[in-house]
Amino acid sequence: DRSIKIAPSILSADFANFGAECRAIEAQGADWVHVDVMDGHFVPNITFGPATCAAIRPHIKGVMDVHLMIAPVDPYIEAFAKAGADIITAHVEAGPHIHRTMQAIRGAGAKAGVALNPATPAAAVEYLLDMVDLVCVMTVNPGFGGQKFIHSQVEKVRQLRAMIGDRPIHIEIDGGVDPLTAPLVAAAGADVLVAGSAVFRGGSVSDPAPYGANIRAI
Ligand code: DX5
Ligand code: ZN
Repeated sequence: DRSIKIAPSILSADFANFGAECRAIEAQGADWVHVDVMDGHFVPNITFGPATCAAIRPHIKGVMDVHLMIAPVDPYIEAFAKAGADIITAHVEAGPHIHRTMQAIRGAGAKAGVALNPATPAAAVEYLLDMVDLVCVMTVNPGFGGQKFIHSQVEKVRQLRAMIGDRPIHIEIDGGVDPLTAPLVAAAGADVLVAGSAVFRGGSVSDPAPYGANIRAI
């Protein structure tokens, strides 16, 4: 179904309270939970790995959407699948064998996503469309929350929507999504909107109502 789903990124959550944060955002209306894995090599920041994903899994009722900003990817796919990821997304820029990576993700029993950095054209995923469940368009340079939305990516979303045609593939937007930018990408054909700072601002596990208001505002 093509209704818009909001996937809060726990990159903007309290890292000492991931379990409670995941329960709070789902209670406040999150559709998916987006989990940003960074390695300090593919991107200039480090977050956490499969052990943390496994620890938060029991606190998520719905879809755990794991975004791998790591290189290499292939040696870790099995670990993230075992940790309970429903969707595992890898970057087309993370290595020379993204086709093999998509096969490996599905082979491990997860849904396969492919992410594109802002400078990477839509055509980079043309020969992957029959083997992926999600294409993630980065609308910031990956690595940090709270960055400014890169408007040139809206045209890429439009191109991908046309390329995808009837295939049951989600187009996910990641970076700088807020109430002003969300309508632009939704109109261009996106159906999953990741949002970190725009969801978590003003709230906390002890005062989660702002999360709900923020989600509804997007
Ligand atoms: C960026 C991450 C995003 C990030 C989005 O590298 O992949 O998921 O948390 O954060 P906001 O919504 O604050 O731009
Ligand atoms: Zn992400």
